[in-house]
Amino acid sequence: MDRNDPAYRGQSDYNELLLRLYDPLVLGPISRYVWRCPAEEGIRMYRQHIRPNHLDVGPGTGYFIEHAGLPAGSRVTVLDPNPNVLRHVTRRLHDLEVTAVEADVLKPLPVAGPFDSAAMNAVLHCLPGPLERKAVAVANVANVLAPRGTFFGATVLGRSARHTRMGRAFLTAFNRRGAFDNLDDTEEGIAEILRRSFRNVTIETVGGLAIFAATETSLSGSLNT
Ligand SMILES: C[S@@+](CC[C@H](N)C(=O)[O-])C[C@H]1O[C@@H](n2cnc3c(N)ncnc32)[C@H](O)[C@@H]1O
Repeated sequence: MDRNDPAYRGQSDYNELLLRLYDPLVLGPISRYVWRCPAEEGIRMYRQHIRPNHLDVGPGTGYFIEHAGLPAGSRVTVLDPNPNVLRHVTRRLHDLEVTAVEADVLKPLPVAGPFDSAAMNAVLHCLPGPLERKAVAVANVANVLAPRGTFFGATVLGRSARHTRMGRAFLTAFNRRGAFDNLDDTEEGIAEILRRSFRNVTIETVGGLAIFAATETSLSGSLNT
């Protein structure tokens, strides 16, 4: 990804070292104590919604896909602008039929679809704000989802959420660094951008995270232009 692209900072930290530390650190104590939403919640969500022929946007280490209970050989497309992520996930998910696509979710997606499920877990808070711009990412995924497919994920909420003092410190630090751009992200704002592309949206806040699922794409496609 071009260094001048507004989405660059949200994906550039994922080198081999961070990918090795991610599961024990980010999905361990940071999820549990900083965001107060343990990784088990993510596994529960993936197990509930994932279907074979799944699209995963911003898969990170692939931890949730691996623990989602998909039958061996299921088709999974992983989409991320960062080649380190794609290499790491493809290696990890060797029991699945993985297609890796180097792309930015804010641009029209170079994938055919339609996918039976799609996840964007812990990605919206990495995308450049405002929410208006993040709505394009949601629309891009909706455009490649099957009519009966489910789009799901979670995102760290901004300063309106009831973060702990430690949560607020992490939020400030990650936003200063540029790894997050979510200070103004609210549960209602996330719900609103989902409703632009989906007729049926459920969202709940757990700790400092909003967890969402959306079905019935309205497929306006207008946000892509
Ligand atoms: C915080 S990690 C989340 C990883 C994984 N989904 C999880 O829940 O553990 C953010 C992921 O989003 C990816 N990402 C960041 N910006 C992106 C963009 N513009 N398009 C697609 N993926 C992006 C990063 O490269 C990384 O893989």
